[in-house]
Amino acid sequence: MAEIILVSSGKGGSGKSSFTAGVSRALAFAGKKVLDVDCDIGLRSLDLLLGASDKVVFDWGDVLLGRCTAEQAVIKGEIDLLAAPSRFDSAFEPEALAKLVKSLKSSYDYIFIDSPAGIDKGFQIAAACAEKAIVVTTPDSICVRSCARAFDELDRLGVKDVRLVINMFEVKPVCKHKLLNIDQCIDETGVQLIGVVPRDANLGYCSVTGASPSEFSPSTLAFSRIAKRITGKRVPLVCE
Ligand SMILES: Nc1ncnc2c1ncn2[C@@H]1O[C@H](COP(=O)(O)OP(=O)(O)OP(=O)(O)O)[C@@H](O)[C@H]1O
Ligand SMILES: [Mg+2]
Repeated sequence: MAEIILVSSGKGGSGKSSFTAGVSRALAFAGKKVLDVDCDIGLRSLDLLLGASDKVVFDWGDVLLGRCTAEQAVIKGEIDLLAAPSRFDSAFEPEALAKLVKSLKSSYDYIFIDSPAGIDKGFQIAAACAEKAIVVTTPDSICVRSCARAFDELDRLGVKDVRLVINMFEVKPVCKHKLLNIDQCIDETGVQLIGVVPRDANLGYCSVTGASPSEFSPSTLAFSRIAKRITGKRVPLVCE
């Protein structure tokens, strides 16, 4: 029975979709059955990051509108994917998507919900599915504040099990006090840390090629550590 994990941040561009794809790959590599649900209505990206853009025929909006079954909409692959609709529809109510996602729980070990930026309607739809959440911040004050806001909103919606990922981390600017350090990110979001992902230029190529960076790239190693922590293994937060 899958755990349903929301990936959120408040602010746009913090790396939610890259994180979702990277951690999903690491879990799939470890033999777990993973479904990613792209909730970024109108701005979907997981199909590109997972190399499945040419396989999208239906999306979860088509299921809610009765145009196809869930089985038809799920794109099968190393990681299964439910693509986001390209347009908003009034039928896209939080409860409707939550019911659809819960109906798929028995087929997976993990279901990741990739939230859009912001904390308005798209976020509410995504959050209604969630049993747990991971908020992804970059080490700067604006993103950290937006994560703290998303954390409050998740608490209000009843999602109590929330962990923090610090993405695009770079040691040099932190040492020069140009970026927040790990403790400052934790203190200012008020969220318990589950991992740190370094800035990795290779990640940018994923949306072009649909392939993951090499198994030795810094982001792949970080996603693998976080995936292990998600499965309950005790591994260091950051690389030794
Ligand atoms: N660790 C990283 N190192 C370098 N670049 C990164 C990293 N994580 C993400 N990026 C890049 O940052 C950009 C935004 O990433 P991504 O689309 O995953 O963010 P997002 O939070 O999902 O954005 P949105 O809010 O628009 O959905 C992309 O170009 C991606 O390649
Ligand atoms: Mg995204």
